[in-house]
Amino acid sequence: MFLGLDLGTSGLKGLIIRDDQSVVASATAPLEISRPKSGWSEQDPQDWVDALVAVLDVLRTQISFDRISGIGLSGQMHGATPLDHAGNVLRPSILWNDTRAEAEAGRMDKDPVWRSVSGNIVFPGFTAPKLAWMKAHEPHLFEATRMVLLPKDYLRFWLTGEFVSEMSDAAGTSWLDTGKRDWSDVLLGACGMDRSQMPRLVEGSEASACLKADIAARWGFAKDAVVAGGAGDNAASAVGAGLTKAGEGFVSLGTSGVVFVANDAYAPAPETAVHTFCHALPDRWHQMGVVLSASDALAWFARLLEADPSVLASTLGDLSAPGRALFLPYLGGERTPINNASVRAAFLGLEHSSDRTTTTRAVLEGVAFALRDSLEAIRETGTDVTSLVAIGGGSRSDYWLQVLACVLRIPIDVPAGGEYGAALGCARLGMMAATGAGADIATRPKIARTIEPVAELGSAFEAGYARYAQAREMLAALS
Ligand code: XUL
Repeated sequence: MFLGLDLGTSGLKGLIIRDDQSVVASATAPLEISRPKSGWSEQDPQDWVDALVAVLDVLRTQISFDRISGIGLSGQMHGATPLDHAGNVLRPSILWNDTRAEAEAGRMDKDPVWRSVSGNIVFPGFTAPKLAWMKAHEPHLFEATRMVLLPKDYLRFWLTGEFVSEMSDAAGTSWLDTGKRDWSDVLLGACGMDRSQMPRLVEGSEASACLKADIAARWGFAKDAVVAGGAGDNAASAVGAGLTKAGEGFVSLGTSGVVFVANDAYAPAPETAVHTFCHALPDRWHQMGVVLSASDALAWFARLLEADPSVLASTLGDLSAPGRALFLPYLGGERTPINNASVRAAFLGLEHSSDRTTTTRAVLEGVAFALRDSLEAIRETGTDVTSLVAIGGGSRSDYWLQVLACVLRIPIDVPAGGEYGAALGCARLGMMAATGAGADIATRPKIARTIEPVAELGSAFEAGYARYAQAREMLAALS
């Protein structure tokens, strides 16, 4: 059996699968974000540990752990978790959607060495500029930092006592030479840091470490259970949905929105604001466009209306063409394509008749338009995308998926129920590490249906996207 542990932004999920990959047990525990200032987004690593303990305790009531031979970890990317010489956390982790390091990121990105070695824009949400921010604003903590871990790698440290990361998540730090799959001494040096402050690197499907004896004993794990490298949540989701070959991809309606495509070569194109990262499997890379607030935008709107987001998104009636109301989902800035941490969200075109239905539709459409921006950015790099698998919590809304198909103008494959997300992906990576199995075990989920763009609404959605693109430039100019 194999255990996948996915540390998301809004919760931690654990999933146990048998050798035939059927699901034996699953459990989740919620997590909250703290936003002490505008643009800030933090979590206390102790909350991750508490969520992990809660999930393991629940799973343990469903099945005994003594036959688990491989464990995989995945998680929200980019978070900076600084530790002191004794492995103590120095401050709350600064998350992927925190943009406080805008000025530092901008300065770093002006030096061409960053893009040329890491293959990416230095986005404010990436890890390196956050350490530069600490150096400027919390110099005593920066000086005390002996190790910087990504969120899931902090859980690995708690479980195994070892400092290890893997290529897909490391690629989101800005310190990785993404083509060579190794830390860059030059980029670390540019931050006044060095390799000793970075975890050892393995591939996602390789073994990284074994559980500490007390952890194994506490839950009754087999002593020789291995912890795989695992992956950043997007690469893990791709493994979960069987998207590992060039051209295969997904569109994710998670807290963030992502258009993801796998590649068999390293082909950076930072000028497009597309992210080029290592995949979770050796010798593979991937591209993605990232929308900072996707389901998060719907959750925000639902809070305002004191409504349940899933109820809001499932009571919209038949698919209709975009109306006057237009929403741009930049609640915390945006990455692809504008790389603008200061831009903020807006509703435009509201009128007396605007109601709950028309404004909710506008929110779903706005996120879809933002994802179209990401798709166009990926196309600009020369990568062809002909269909995408839908994943993420928001993909439970049929209305949202229909809007996506119309806005992206490609068929959207909707998996049949069951597991196909990051938790399954990292359980599969645990299986590869424990058994030596190859990428072929990452099969595609059964597709329940394919949502095609609605031809009659094509020109209306195109007109909507054109308005969105105009408004995006206006808002960026105002920021
Ligand atoms: C990817 C990114 C987000 C987080 C969300 O670059 O920042 O998708 O990984 O968990």
